[in-house]
Amino acid sequence: MRESKSLRAHAPLTGLAATLVLALSLAGPAAAGDAAAGKSVFNSQCAMCHTIAAGGPNLLGPNLHGIVGRTAGTMKGYNYSPAMKATGFAWTAEKLTAYLPAPAAMVPGNKMPYAGLRPAQKVDDLVAFLETQK
Ligand code: HEC
Repeated sequence: MRESKSLRAHAPLTGLAATLVLALSLAGPAAAGDAAAGKSVFNSQCAMCHTIAAGGPNLLGPNLHGIVGRTAGTMKGYNYSPAMKATGFAWTAEKLTAYLPAPAAMVPGNKMPYAGLRPAQKVDDLVAFLETQK
C-alpha cells in the first residue's frame, strides 16, 4: 500500500522528465545544420550558378570555396554588382543565414537571381556544408 502511494506521487514527475527529454531531442537537430544534407541542398539549389571546389571556375555566380570568412564581393576574376562590392563585410554563418532566405532584402541591388531558400532547416544544413568547404 505504501509503495503504490509513492509510485503515484512520482508519476507526474516521470511524465515531466519524458516531456523534457522529448523537447530536447526535437530542439537538437534544428539548432545545428547537417552538412551532408546541406551538400544535396547545394547541388539542387546553388550548383547551377556556383562551383564550390578550390580553384573552381566562376559561372553565372562566383566560386564559393572558402566563402565562410571571405570578404563579400572579392572573388578574383568575378564581375560583382556595385551593391555586393560595397557591402564590406566578411561572410559568416550568421550573414549567410540572413542572406540565403532573402538575398534581395539583405543586400539590396545585388544581382543574384535567386528568390530565397526555405525552410530554415535547409538554410542551416546548407550553411553547415559551406563551413566545411575551406
Ligand atoms: C541563378 C544563379 C544563382 C543561383 C541559383 C545562386 N546564386 Fe549565389 N550568386 C549569383 C550571382 C550572379 C551572384 C553575384 C551577386 C552580385 O555580384 O551582386 C551570387 C553571389 C552569391 C554570394 C556572394 C559571393 C561573394 O563572393 O561575395 C553567395 C554567398 C552566394 N551567391 C551563395 C549562393 C548559394 C549558397 C546558393 C544556393 C542556395 C546560390 N548562391 C544560388 C547567382 C546565383
